[in-house]
Amino acid sequence: MVLVNENFLNLQNSYLFSEIARKTREFIALHPEVTVIKLGIGDATRPLPLSVIQAFHHGVDELADQKTFHGYGPEQGYAFLRDLIVENEYRARGIDIDPDEIFISDGSKCDTGNILDIFGKNIVAISDPSYPVYVDTNVMAGNAGIATDNGQYADIVYLPCNQSNNFCPAIPNFHVDLIYLCSPNNPTGAILNKVEMKNWVDYALREKAIILFDAAYERFIVEDDIPHSIFEIPGALKVAIEFRSFSKTAGFTGTRCAFTVVPKSLNAYDSKQNVIPIHPLWNRRHCTKFNGVSYLVQKAAAAIYTDIGKNEVENIIKYYQKNAEIIRKGLKQAGLEFFGGINSPYIWVKAPQGQSSWELFDLFLEKLNIVGTPGSGFGPNGEGFFRLTAFGSIENTQEAMKRIQNYNFGLEK
Ligand code: MLT
Repeated sequence: MVLVNENFLNLQNSYLFSEIARKTREFIALHPEVTVIKLGIGDATRPLPLSVIQAFHHGVDELADQKTFHGYGPEQGYAFLRDLIVENEYRARGIDIDPDEIFISDGSKCDTGNILDIFGKNIVAISDPSYPVYVDTNVMAGNAGIATDNGQYADIVYLPCNQSNNFCPAIPNFHVDLIYLCSPNNPTGAILNKVEMKNWVDYALREKAIILFDAAYERFIVEDDIPHSIFEIPGALKVAIEFRSFSKTAGFTGTRCAFTVVPKSLNAYDSKQNVIPIHPLWNRRHCTKFNGVSYLVQKAAAAIYTDIGKNEVENIIKYYQKNAEIIRKGLKQAGLEFFGGINSPYIWVKAPQGQSSWELFDLFLEKLNIVGTPGSGFGPNGEGFFRLTAFGSIENTQEAMKRIQNYNFGLEK
């Protein structure tokens, strides 16, 4: 008799974005005549930049030639890409990271989930709402305890993020071990400023905790004085792991490329309280379970650090930022209350008549033919909110705002 990992039976719903895709497919099948605009999952819609495409072509030619063929690469990623990341993402901001501390991977979703392989049973703190992968992977790892009636798990420490705290998690006045932070935040679009991040780093230093810092949306920061990396904060190299992605930066959602920074100065403990460095553990995990991102994809990712590539990426980001502006303007004109969309591609919309998030999802889908993401799918504190993304095309974004403005939400404009 084969036993399953019963932790999986403890998961409460289907994966959020699969559920939305299913509902959308069903609606379109029933109403083939309507044009549905998808502003749900944060998936890139701009094509890959030309420099990236050229690097792909060049890479294919190399693989076709005996003299330049590449088989297995280093599991941690090719030095050419790790060096460029260090130079452009960290040294350019005065952060001293060693290329060996960079691990190239196929996505931050995978890394934020896989990282749990190297940790034992810990007290885990997660913002609520948050990217569903954080909670779900802790459930799979057996860290979450029993599901409670309000859609949470008994053993997870939830850090409520709501209007009253500007959607920024408050530091607990008790001990936790692992802390997930995401800034710019998915789903609320909020950011952590320098002081807030310093408070978290100081807490982690004091409590011997580790921060899992998801900075997948870093490129969308426009305001001054907001850290782009947690390692801008003194002491963070001793307490944080940072997750970064090329997905939302250069359109790699389908192509897959990301990186995780695991500082060599980061330690945890075994059950006898011996100090255990984290870097060798993650390296061991990476080498055993992962065979590296393909040479082609890493060549393509490296192209975004050329002068032309940088310029192209900037234009892609500007395009999505323009969409965010269109959405903010449109929602304002419609009289809807919303947050985010300034340093983030996500706009967090409050239900106008106290509807639940899924009621709002249905209303948007059925009456406006717009797909968004129900806030409650990110956690109970997301209830009553609805997330729109700036990753659509400008034309679709404009059309969506027209539909929203023409709809009677029963509000004074
Ligand atoms: C989102 O919409 O939250 C993201 O696209 C999901 C992801 O990056 O996996």
